[in-house]
Amino acid sequence: MSSIRLLKPHEIPVRRPGSQTARAFRMGPQIAPHRAAYEFYPTPPAATRALLSAETFDGPIWEPACGQGHISKVLLQAGYHVVSTDLVAYGYGEAKLDFLAETRPRAKHIITNPPYGRGLADAFAKHALELTRETGGTVAMLMNLAGLCHPLRHDFWTAHPPTIIYALDECTCWPYGDPSRATTGIAKQRYCWIIWKYGQSGVTALRWLTTRA
Ligand SMILES: C[S@@+](CC[C@H](N)C(=O)[O-])C[C@H]1O[C@@H](n2cnc3c(N)ncnc32)[C@H](O)[C@@H]1O
Repeated sequence: MSSIRLLKPHEIPVRRPGSQTARAFRMGPQIAPHRAAYEFYPTPPAATRALLSAETFDGPIWEPACGQGHISKVLLQAGYHVVSTDLVAYGYGEAKLDFLAETRPRAKHIITNPPYGRGLADAFAKHALELTRETGGTVAMLMNLAGLCHPLRHDFWTAHPPTIIYALDECTCWPYGDPSRATTGIAKQRYCWIIWKYGQSGVTALRWLTTRA
């Protein structure tokens, strides 16, 4: 569990004018008053353990929105080489790195729970797919299940059908990792891991994973 503190000047993320990230955070760290600063909703470790119960990755992994390392630490414990970066300095990984402005993949595979608001999750998925085209790697994103059924996303899903979707039985990514800061909507959100394996197109598989193992 973490407490929020004001960022020191050197910790404030670089915002490239006109970029998707700059547009998303144009009003400041919160894209809306009820949202966590910089969309910081850390992933419970059990969600990443569930992913690893079903998937293996044959090479280094980039966690490009690592936050405080909730996903990275589980991957490291499992023996993976992990490159951890984030827009914001949380004291973990390399800070001040806007994933959407990165033009070179930093590892073969990309695994993250991206920022969601103002189209950032969509932009993360598209950008990760572009970068892994170069590496032949896998993309794994923890997403809101409801995002699969959305008029603005329909064309993206049909153009880029995931290889497999893992629906999680229980998972809540609390703001700042702190249930006491939850808003009413957050506890109702349902999560899934969405996986794209390079070169594997066809019918999307759907499986279920438990976070209680
Ligand atoms: C939902 S949180 C997840 C954090 C971490 N991936 C985890 O699972 O615990 C989203 C993270 O995205 C970071 N972020 C927001 N915009 C970003 C950007 N354009 N590039 C890189 N990181 C970004 C935030 O600072 C925050 O740490």
